[in-house]
Amino acid sequence: TEAEMYTSYKGVYLLSRVLCRRNLKCYEEFNFLPDDILIVTYPKSGTTWMQEIVPLIVSGGDPASVETLYNWDRVPWLEFHTDCNEDFSKRPSPRMFATHFQHHMMPPGFFEVKPKVIYVMRNPKDVFTSYIHQHSMTPLMVQTGPQREFLHKFLDGKVAFGSWFDHVKGWLNAEDKERIMYISYEEMIMDLKDSVTRIAQFLEKPLGPEVIEKIAERCLFKNMKQNKMSNYSAAPREFLDQRKSEFLRKGVFIVGDWKNQLTVAEAEHFDAVYKDKIKDFNCKDSRLC
Ligand code: PPS
Repeated sequence: TEAEMYTSYKGVYLLSRVLCRRNLKCYEEFNFLPDDILIVTYPKSGTTWMQEIVPLIVSGGDPASVETLYNWDRVPWLEFHTDCNEDFSKRPSPRMFATHFQHHMMPPGFFEVKPKVIYVMRNPKDVFTSYIHQHSMTPLMVQTGPQREFLHKFLDGKVAFGSWFDHVKGWLNAEDKERIMYISYEEMIMDLKDSVTRIAQFLEKPLGPEVIEKIAERCLFKNMKQNKMSNYSAAPREFLDQRKSEFLRKGVFIVGDWKNQLTVAEAEHFDAVYKDKIKDFNCKDSRLC
């Protein structure tokens, strides 16, 4: 049942099968290093894309950085891999991690050590659309049922990793802004070269224009889709069954795919809820909101 599929952690739904209490305990005790790089996203907002871009930047454009390890190994999820047996302290620095967790769910070490964060946001209607497809291909997730019902759950935050609104608001209002870079999926679609340049600057990794160009080229949707270490073709079917839908799904016409998924009434309802949820949001940084 749905109740069995989810565990609640700090008020947020998580998938019980992949996030057990033991995992979360290791997560809470995680030892960060000051030069760790964290990619933080609500699901379906550009995680895999960043798992390609950041290792390439850190390695100075070395293709091996994304051809020898699966994306989930080169930039492991904190919450899925803190299985206490895995010793991340042996990794060369800077270590790279990903997380879908909301700001208030971050462990104590995160606030003490202050690793760098790259926070990627995406238009929530496109996130919703992509999330529907993810549910259809992931046996571990609940069946969405009729789209209208799932839309209500999504807008209420009754889905894995909780509310998109809480996620974005929490991270936008995080303290220590100087160690957080905010970027949107749409900016990356619009100008990937410029995005890579800015990410490299934020990571204090100066790269020449040819290297930037090469990285941006590699990270284009059509090229990343060919990378077996990044397109999830190696993921076990019980986790991801790409016979139903592809993980790297859309390609060039990716911004605004929600128009193919939502009815006019659903889109209007989405907009109304969006307005309502955002209305009381007191964004502490005018550059961001
Ligand atoms: S997950 O499951 O949370 O890790 O998913 P995530 O990687 O955050 O999001 C998956 C969506 O990102 C799209 N994607 C890309 N778009 C453009 N360019 C590149 N290089 C790229 N890589 C991944 C992917 O196709 C998913 O979006 P949809 O809309 O489903 O296609």
